[in-house]
Amino acid sequence: MKTPDSAVMKAIYERRSVRNFADAQVSRDLIMAALEAASWAPSGLNNQPWRFAIIWERESKEALAALTRYSATFRSAAVLIVVFLDKEASYDYTKDCQAVGACLQNLLLSLHSLDLGAVWSGEILKNRDRVREVLKLPERFELMAVVAVGHPAHHNQKSHRQPIEELILLEK
Ligand SMILES: Cc1cc2nc3c(=O)[nH]c(=O)nc-3n(C[C@H](O)[C@H](O)[C@H](O)COP(=O)(O)O)c2cc1C
Repeated sequence: MKTPDSAVMKAIYERRSVRNFADAQVSRDLIMAALEAASWAPSGLNNQPWRFAIIWERESKEALAALTRYSATFRSAAVLIVVFLDKEASYDYTKDCQAVGACLQNLLLSLHSLDLGAVWSGEILKNRDRVREVLKLPERFELMAVVAVGHPAHHNQKSHRQPIEELILLEK
């Protein structure tokens, strides 16, 4: 039971992870608009613990690509958005990670609504310290994800979800 006439519901159902990008520039204004929308995510005590590094430069993209098995996606992306938790802004690790997750979902939905493709990359977390070193950022910034962004090279890819009935533990 979907509700396609709500813009938010439509974006939620239509968004898919995009791992191949067209060789085309992405406007900085669009990226900034998506990041601003991402920053309107909820956070505990409204502490807004997310921080972003925006990587356009080929050399830095290459250095990050070398740290993940999804290197082809990283290389084809027009821009990589590296998302960190600022440990100095943190008050409760679990809640702060949840807030950054909400921020990441806002980011993906915003990019989708701007006709950009993106994928949330978590596999690179195995090299979290190396990522920080490549970007010359201090230890207070803990890597949460890299979002690879570009104009989609494909559309209509499939995904699936478990039926909602299987996910509800109880209702009374
Ligand atoms: C925490 C997290 C980590 C993920 N890590 C990766 C990753 O490293 N590489 C990748 O290609 N996709 C990654 N994804 C994307 C998922 O594979 C994808 O969201 C899932 O298969 C559902 O597909 P959909 O986004 O198209 O609905 C990750 C997603 C999340 C939320």
